Amino acid sequence: LRNGPLAGKHVLITSGPTHEPIDPVRYIANRSSGAQGTALAEAVLALGGNVTFVTGPAAAARPSGARVVEVETARQMADAVQAALPADAAIFCAAVADWRVENASDLKMKKDGSGTLPALQFAENPDILATVSQGDNRPGIVIGFAAETHDVIANAQAKRARKGCDWIVANDVRPETGIMGGDENAAILVTADDVEEWPRLSKDQTARRIAARLAEELS
Ligand code: C5P
Repeated sequence: LRNGPLAGKHVLITSGPTHEPIDPVRYIANRSSGAQGTALAEAVLALGGNVTFVTGPAAAARPSGARVVEVETARQMADAVQAALPADAAIFCAAVADWRVENASDLKMKKDGSGTLPALQFAENPDILATVSQGDNRPGIVIGFAAETHDVIANAQAKRARKGCDWIVANDVRPETGIMGGDENAAILVTADDVEEWPRLSKDQTARRIAARLAEELS
């Protein structure tokens, strides 16, 4: 058994993007390096927690010591998350595609020379954070992320209420902040009755703060 304030606690973390196929060689996705998710997993592991790390196809290294589940699509991520429950806490860091292509092709789509363009039809993906927050097997603490470009706090508070999670870690991702794809984060922790603006920190430091807060809350 490992030591630390999270010893014996199971923490489920989603990370990375999901890929939604258009055909066997093409997909749509959100931009996500997986860096914040991997940093979070490492921070929870460092405090002695057991981590199930459900990740889409991300560039970031996989956290060593976690149980890693690799998925591609949002629906696969949703299934992997359900299969990993119960958990003491869940942190939804993944940039899940909101829509999948309903008429994805089994064969590579070809230009037919006539100039006819493919018509993609979309279907909505399950909202994994909302489903788990409102489900029977709800972990004691559920944390979501919010990337916002304006009205960051108000949008995060509304998102917290709408999804039914406990905390939202909100980030201002306006391009001039350099946060998207960068090494740093400026997070705002929104809880039921509080708003904490954290200074600009590395993604590792942000992860350690979240893990420390989680340990306090679970103790
Ligand atoms: O609704 P929005 O995508 O802005 O919410 C972001 C939060 O919800 C993140 O924590 C993300 O991981 C989670 N999410 C999810 N499943 C979705 C969409 C978002 O778990 N289909």
